[in-house]
Amino acid sequence: MEVIIYPTYDEISKAAAAVVAETVNNKPNAVLGLATGSTPLGLYKELIRMHREEGLDFSHVTTFNLDEYVGLSPDHDQSYHYFMDENFFKHVNVPPENVHVPSGTTQNYRAFCEWYEDRIDECGGIDVQVLGIGSDGHIAFNEPGSSLGSRTRIKTLAKQTIEDNARFFESKEDVPIYAITMGVGTILEADKLLLLANGANKAAAIGAAVEGPVSVACTASALQLHPDSVIMIDQKAAENLKMREYYEWIQANKPGAPNTS
Ligand code: PGA
Repeated sequence: MEVIIYPTYDEISKAAAAVVAETVNNKPNAVLGLATGSTPLGLYKELIRMHREEGLDFSHVTTFNLDEYVGLSPDHDQSYHYFMDENFFKHVNVPPENVHVPSGTTQNYRAFCEWYEDRIDECGGIDVQVLGIGSDGHIAFNEPGSSLGSRTRIKTLAKQTIEDNARFFESKEDVPIYAITMGVGTILEADKLLLLANGANKAAAIGAAVEGPVSVACTASALQLHPDSVIMIDQKAAENLKMREYYEWIQANKPGAPNTS
């Protein structure tokens, strides 16, 4: 687990975009795992800039999104389909047929979830998965109590998540209470995990995810089990980390850093 603390949100976004761009440049047909929420917006903005100004090419890329609200159609302005179109897909050249976002309106959720898992496998698995973290420590919509071996399925949202996400809806009552989400087990199969967080309201969750026990109480703690997970956070989100100085020491003394060569 690599913990990197950046001075600003902008720097987190640029660093995350550099990792995604490197993945795509090294493997033109890369499979990207994408996330919604406020946190990855800066990353998408930077990838769009790289596409426009530097020719970053997504024409052979395949994408899988983590989750979707149950009951919201793709044209609902709070659906994650809509979010991804508005904030990323309509500005880059991922072929529409290569885009996968879980369906919030399927007639058969069990069959859809199985198909989603199979489709990830058919495409060769996810090369890099972008993640945010909820203030309750969730990754995707894997709320506290979710099995660390869980697969894509329907999940009931926690009250905390409904409150956190109410800001995007007219009222708290409008927030759907179910979501379809990749499981923790699904996420852990990606080759690389990139978890982004900023702001003081994420400090407790980051503390639990990075230094707490591996536990269903904080599903992001499952990243401790992954051989290549990178936690990119700002100073405020790092506030609860007891080993913060050590993480900064590691970054300052990385093999290849100016003072180690
Ligand atoms: P946020 O959501 O990026 O809007 O804070 C993160 C999450 O709930 O996973």
